[in-house]
Amino acid sequence: MGFDGRRVVSFESRRAQEMADLVARQGGAPLSAPTMREIPVEQNAEALAFAERLFGGGFDVVLLLTGVGTRMLAKAVETKYSRERFAEGLKGVVTVARGPKPVAALREMGLKPTVLVPEPNTWRDVLTTLDRQSPVAGKRVAVQEYGQPNPELIEGLKGRGAEVTAVPVYQWALPEDLGPLRHAIREIAGGRADFALFTSATQARHLFQVAEADGTAGALREGFRRVCIGSIGPIASEGILAEGLKADYEPDSPHMGELVRDLARRGGDLLHKKRTAHEGGIDTHGWRRVDMAWGAEAERRAATADSAFMKACRREKADYTPIWLMRQAGRYQREYRELRATVPFLDLCKTPDLAAEVTLMAVDRLGADAAIIFADILLVLEPMGVDLEFSKGEGPVIHNPVRTAQDVDRLREVTGEELGYVFEALRVTRRALRPDIPLIGFAGAPFTVASYAVEGGGSRHYEHTKGLMYRDKGAWDALMERLTRLLTGYLNAQIAAGADAVQLFDSWVGCLSPDDYAAFVLPHMKRLIDGLKKPTPVLHFGTGNPSLLELMKQAGGDVIGLDWRVDLADAWARLGDDVAVMGNLDPIALFASPNEIRRQAQRILDKAAGRPGHIFNLGHGILPGASPDHVAVLVDAVHELSAR
Ligand code: CP3
Repeated sequence: MGFDGRRVVSFESRRAQEMADLVARQGGAPLSAPTMREIPVEQNAEALAFAERLFGGGFDVVLLLTGVGTRMLAKAVETKYSRERFAEGLKGVVTVARGPKPVAALREMGLKPTVLVPEPNTWRDVLTTLDRQSPVAGKRVAVQEYGQPNPELIEGLKGRGAEVTAVPVYQWALPEDLGPLRHAIREIAGGRADFALFTSATQARHLFQVAEADGTAGALREGFRRVCIGSIGPIASEGILAEGLKADYEPDSPHMGELVRDLARRGGDLLHKKRTAHEGGIDTHGWRRVDMAWGAEAERRAATADSAFMKACRREKADYTPIWLMRQAGRYQREYRELRATVPFLDLCKTPDLAAEVTLMAVDRLGADAAIIFADILLVLEPMGVDLEFSKGEGPVIHNPVRTAQDVDRLREVTGEELGYVFEALRVTRRALRPDIPLIGFAGAPFTVASYAVEGGGSRHYEHTKGLMYRDKGAWDALMERLTRLLTGYLNAQIAAGADAVQLFDSWVGCLSPDDYAAFVLPHMKRLIDGLKKPTPVLHFGTGNPSLLELMKQAGGDVIGLDWRVDLADAWARLGDDVAVMGNLDPIALFASPNEIRRQAQRILDKAAGRPGHIFNLGHGILPGASPDHVAVLVDAVHELSAR
């Protein structure tokens, strides 16, 4: 379990023992290699000079970068002046705290910062926060520096017209005994280390400083090609990058315990992937997930076909119950949010390398048994001439909704092959995805896509959609037929591009009665599913109305997706055992405690009772507020509890 006896190097100094204990508790063999020693500046001339200038009204803004540094600064000043006097001095200026630690240090002096820089509080965040809340042009700014100076920050401030004074209060040096660090360098260079954990940029710099002085930096850098590198957060990752390496994993929030726990959980797969890449000639110092290559196509196909997910689709026995989650790539993930901060959603969908990267990222972080291509059900509307936009906070908006027979006639007749970027994303993903992980293609079902086209966005009562349906069956059928032809072509092209299975999302069909489903939806769904290339498994998912299940089965699909409002055992009994089932966990269960999540997973596994043909999933997509840790807890729980 966990690290499974693998060797985990950490560069911690003050917290070396704590880190070693964390690693050991997760089943790893810790190797501590301290890289730093703190040197308090006893008679800190700069600190005193700073205080005197502060008291004389010589500063407008004081930037406090670290908690330890702020405390050290106070201590140095207190060798000559009272704490009260120092606090008074700070009260007269704009104080800027980079994150919660300087805030805590200020609180000890009875102060509150004027400006707080939010997480992840890199030097860029400091600058953008100042730009927004307290521009520094023409201001006299003091920067408390702790350890290494931060030239980018200083330059950024100067570039904005500030007069900057650096106040170094503390410094890092190399440890007196370099023995353990040199030993770690030999182990990494010699291929005897599996993981390396960095919790600061200085650790990376000191490590290479020693290696360069010893003439071992080249061998160390080569050795790192086969080591899985964990980084506590973006600042440490920048430091790792500056040494010519790349962090393979960052936890969602910057805590030592989280870094160790996550790598213990998923690090084995990452390490295997990195070493396979290296052996395949890929430069693992600069790779992206999409650069991965796994070898011969015939073997790849065999491994995919033999996976737990594909077996479940065929209702064959598997070693465990496979799990993947709808919306497994999305806003609940830090990596996704960071990428989305730089790329609008539609651009992300339309850039194959990025869509593939996000698809692969979700599988890596979750440990899921299937990937689902990153795209959206509404993309098919664009080539038809529907004007689609994803606006912030509101979801999809369609500026020219389809409300009448004339509107339907105006839609362009398309084959589904227009969405080349989705097929390219599938090809890139399939090449880079682990062979034993199937890739799911998808589309919205005609009713759900039509509901967006007709309403012009999301809806509560579907009055325009049902209105068209009831008022003008001819126009409704024409719309559904057009969508059905398009979606058939689109899904078959996805299969040709590498999708191992396809899912139809009929997310909103539950607003219909069984009779209306039978009259207005079922014939189209049946034609669509019958038109898909066999034997690719079809997953047919709907929500909201358990009474539709038998009719959905009649329409087709190898796997029927259930929401959480039905009992899985009842639903499967009604559907019959000639079909597989998927889903059923309430997405809100992810907001419960890990113990409750495990209990809920067990409950659903009990309902499936080990019958072949069960794929674990949520009853609908993961919500943006879900905790990535809880999602991982669920995946692990399903694997553990279902192991046969
Ligand atoms: O499951 C995955 O990880 C693959 C990607 C995927 C997305 N949308 C990405 C997405 C899939 C399978 C979908 C399907 C989808 N899209 C459905 C059916 C599934 C469901 O949830 O019922 C529906 C109804 C849509 C339409 C849609 N797309 C809406 C209503 C919204 C906005 C509201 C919301 O939930 O975010 C989207 C945007 C969207 N699609 C996002 C993602 C990751 C969020 C966009 C962002 O980054 O801001």
